[in-house]
Amino acid sequence: MLHKIFRTKQIMPHEQGVTQLKRCLSAWDLAFLGVGAIIGTGIFVLTGIAAATQAGPAIVLSFVVAGLACAFAALSYAELSAAIGGCGSAYGYSYAAFGELIAFIIGWDLLLEYAISVAAVANGWAGYLNNALTAIGFGLPEMLTKAPMAGGFINLPAALIILVLMFLLIAGVKHSAKANNMMVAVKLVTISIFIGIAVFNVHPENWQPFMPFGWFQTLPGGQTTGVLAGASLVFFAYVGFDAVSTAAEEAKDPQKDLPFGIVSSLVFCTLIYIIVSGLLTGVVNYKELNVSSPVAHALTLMGYKWGAAVISTGVISGLTTVMLVLYYGLTRIIFAMSRDGLLSPFFSEVSEKTQTPIRVIIISGVIMALIAGLVPLGELAELVNIGTLAAFVLVCLGVIVLRITHWDLERPFRAPLNPLFPVLGVLSCGSLMAFLPAITWLRFIVWLILGLVVYFVYSIKHSKLEKNA
Ligand code: ALA
Repeated sequence: MLHKIFRTKQIMPHEQGVTQLKRCLSAWDLAFLGVGAIIGTGIFVLTGIAAATQAGPAIVLSFVVAGLACAFAALSYAELSAAIGGCGSAYGYSYAAFGELIAFIIGWDLLLEYAISVAAVANGWAGYLNNALTAIGFGLPEMLTKAPMAGGFINLPAALIILVLMFLLIAGVKHSAKANNMMVAVKLVTISIFIGIAVFNVHPENWQPFMPFGWFQTLPGGQTTGVLAGASLVFFAYVGFDAVSTAAEEAKDPQKDLPFGIVSSLVFCTLIYIIVSGLLTGVVNYKELNVSSPVAHALTLMGYKWGAAVISTGVISGLTTVMLVLYYGLTRIIFAMSRDGLLSPFFSEVSEKTQTPIRVIIISGVIMALIAGLVPLGELAELVNIGTLAAFVLVCLGVIVLRITHWDLERPFRAPLNPLFPVLGVLSCGSLMAFLPAITWLRFIVWLILGLVVYFVYSIKHSKLEKNA
C-alpha cells in the first residue's frame, strides 16, 4: 500500500509533453489571465470589511503581508511551472515531488478552492448586477435574486453568469482570453478613475489611529482581529495567480511565458492593492467601510455619485474575469487528474473541433451554477484561503524537494537564493493558515477526509501508474 500512495509520476518537461489542447496563449494573455483572476471581490468587497473589523487603516499592511507570502509562493510556482509540463498546477508538481496521495489531496483541495471561489464570486457579481439594474428601474424580484435558504427561490443571475462563461470556455481558450483581456481593461480603467479621484480627497487624519486592532488577537467568540488576521482574510484578493500555471498546455512558450505571467500579474496587483487600500482608508474613516461595496461607497461619500456608478461597471466586469479564469483553472485541473486516472476518464475527453475539454466544462459549470443559484455563499472566502494556502505551502516545499531529488532537471526559471525564498514561503503561508478561525479549519478537514475516501475507494485502483506497474 505504502509504495502505491508514494509512487511519483515521471517529470515530463514541456517540450516532451504531447497535448490535445491548443497552444495559442501569448505571454501577455497569461499576464492578463493573472490580473483577470486576481483583482476582484478581495479589493472591491473584502477590503472594507477587513479595514472596518480587523485592521483599520493598517489594512495596507495586511495587503503587504499577504502579498509577500504570495510573492514567495509565486517564485516557486514560476520555477516549477517552467520546468514541469502539464496543466495540473500544484497537483502536477506534487505528483512529481511527493507522490500520488499528496498530489491527489492537493488536487482535491484545488477543486474546492476554484469551485467555491467561482460560486461565491458569482453571488457577489449577482448582487452588483441587481443593484445596477435597480438603479435604472429594472430591479429583479427577490424570488429570483436569493437562494431558498435566504428567503428566495433561486439566485438566477448568479447561476446564469456561470452558464454564459461555460459557453465561452467551450468556444475555445483563445476566445476566452480575448474576452478576458477586454474585461480586464475595463476594470483597470475603473480602478484608475477611483485612484484619480481619491488622491485629491485624502484626509490624513483618517489614518489615525493607524493600527486600532493591533497585530493579532482572538476575541472571546473565536473571531480573530488585527493586521495578521486581516492578512489572512485579504489573502483572498491574491487568489488566482496560481491559475496561470494551469494554462501550461495552452501557452505558446510555457518555459518563458509562465514565469512572466505569474510574477508580473502578482507584482502589478500587489501595487494596485496597496495604493487602493491606502487611499480608501485615507478618504473615509475605516469605520464607515463595513459595507458590501466599499469602493463605490467611498466615492458616494466624497460626493461622486457618477463615480460610484462607474465603479459598479468595473466590479461587474472585474468579477466576471475572476470567475472565468478560476473556472478555466478548475477544468484544467480536473482534466489533468482524470488523464492520470485519479478521476474518471470520462472527464478527459477533448472536443476535436474546439480543442477544449468539453465534458468537464459542462459538468463543472452546471454543478457550480446550481450551487451559486441555490446556496447563499457569503462567508466562504476563508475556506478558499485555507485551501489555497495549503497548495502554496506544498508548491514551496516541492521546490526544495525537487532541487534535491531532481537536481539535474532543466530549470528555465529558478527561484533565487534557494532555499531561502521557498522556506519563507512555507513559513509565511503556513502562518497565515494558523491565523484563520477554527471553523474554517474544521470545514477544510471535512473536505480533505472526503477526498481520502474518494482516493482509497477509486483513485488508487484506477491510477495510470497502477496500470503501468
Ligand atoms: N482574487 C479573487 C478575488 O479577489 C479571487 O475575487
